[in-house]
Amino acid sequence: KKLAVFVSGGGSNFKKIHQGCSGDSIKGDVVLLVTNKKDCGGAEYARSNGIPVLVFPKAQSDDGLSPKELVDVIRKYGVDFVLLAGYLKLIPVELVQAFPKRILNIHPALLPAFGGKGLYGMRVHRAVLASGARYSGPTIHFVDEEYDTGRILAQSAVRVIVNDTPEDLAKRVLHEEHKLYVEVVAAICEDRIKWREDGVPLIQSRE
Ligand code: GRF
Repeated sequence: KKLAVFVSGGGSNFKKIHQGCSGDSIKGDVVLLVTNKKDCGGAEYARSNGIPVLVFPKAQSDDGLSPKELVDVIRKYGVDFVLLAGYLKLIPVELVQAFPKRILNIHPALLPAFGGKGLYGMRVHRAVLASGARYSGPTIHFVDEEYDTGRILAQSAVRVIVNDTPEDLAKRVLHEEHKLYVEVVAAICEDRIKWREDGVPLIQSRE
């Protein structure tokens, strides 16, 4: 399967997915990297690995490519799935509509708690600690027109430890993100997602 990855930052999840594709854990190829920050770590990594980089700075404006042109480019690359990995902008509705059930995002807390506009990065982990929740962990979900509200596909629990700082928790959650995203991308590339009648997506294990 052909994958497009969207990043805004360091891109550690993107690197793990790319490495999974290069090894044999994921039957897929990252054919395009899209970023709103042209010099971010994820974009640098893509360039040094020969992956085409598309800079798409303001998803909701007419600057640069229009959302329709973005969709056209992604189609031109023959992309099967779009993976948001630390992409901090809302993706254009045109893209959501062009790729129904084929766009995933990773969020560093257990949705539907601790998500939504304004809750990203270290703010998420601060909110988790402030709430007194005993568990956090990554959520991978399908993307709809809002922040963090699409159907949940996979989660993994990470224990909150007494005296955790937001940075400690972020580090432990990020470690789980890497494992979970690779597992989930492996599953989508092998067509192992089944949609329950009520609209809940499930991952089937390998037979
Ligand atoms: C991750 O914590 C992800 O959940 C969030 O942004 C962070 C991206 O990290 N959406 P990286 O760029 O993959 O290192």
